[in-house]
Amino acid sequence: MSDDGGNEGLAQALALTGLGKVGADGHAYLEVEALRQLSGEHAADPEWQAGFDAMIGYARAGGWLAAGPSLRAHCETRQDDAMTRSSGAARQTVSPDDFRYVIGHFASGITVVSTRHGGRPCGTTVSAVSSLSLAPPMLVICMNQQSVTAQAVSASRTFAVNILSEDQSAMAERFAGKGGDKFADVPFSGRPDGPPLLDGSLATLECRVVQQVSGGSHTVFLAEVVRARVGGGSPLAYFRGRMGRLDDELVDRASRP
Ligand SMILES: Cc1cc2nc3c(=O)[nH]c(=O)nc-3n(C[C@H](O)[C@H](O)[C@H](O)COP(=O)(O)O)c2cc1C
Repeated sequence: MSDDGGNEGLAQALALTGLGKVGADGHAYLEVEALRQLSGEHAADPEWQAGFDAMIGYARAGGWLAAGPSLRAHCETRQDDAMTRSSGAARQTVSPDDFRYVIGHFASGITVVSTRHGGRPCGTTVSAVSSLSLAPPMLVICMNQQSVTAQAVSASRTFAVNILSEDQSAMAERFAGKGGDKFADVPFSGRPDGPPLLDGSLATLECRVVQQVSGGSHTVFLAEVVRARVGGGSPLAYFRGRMGRLDDELVDRASRP
């Protein structure tokens, strides 16, 4: 048996499922009849039952059958990766710093997510954007629950994803800030009651929130895309915490029909 959560996690799982227990010797003791019940649809299959009995007979002959009767199983705690750290008794996870470093190798674009709250435009820089579905057209954005913009999106239920072009890194930095009127002197268009659309964006998608889900420190907004347009140009790329331009060769190839 292999156990990712340490023997403590295994003991809890066995107790919860009624499958058995972890003994003082560190072995798991699995109730034979409880294991047989797991067969589900095979309960009425004499061939399967005969095979199961043969396996139990083999365990008895090998001295691996204890009182109950229960099967004695050897347990191993798995250490998957040098970057895997222990966190809490029964869980393993990577540290936030390691996660940030590793996930930073996933190159993305940069966007400004904008909305309107109480009649005022508001927005912030967001890289956690992904296409979700083609029919209907849907995307997801992941936003920190502390973000003022996230709270405004939650209230307004509409937002725009402004995909930034390579000459808009100053815009990305500006909208990554906190407080003040981030839209002062920033040219934008859009319907008076809709989210602001930043001039010069590579593309914009106007969205309507259909669901929001909490995930750790963030809220995931699932949204239908109601309007979309391309402005043209090259994207502002984001890789390992740095903004920059994509290789010309890739941009040229992608621009060809
Ligand atoms: C390149 C870049 C990408 C970012 N991506 C995200 C993101 O995906 N989700 C998020 O919640 N914040 C992201 N941020 C951080 C927010 O922009 C930042 O916390 C901002 O201050 C929030 O502003 P607000 O409280 O006015 O909404 C990113 C920042 C930068 C510079």
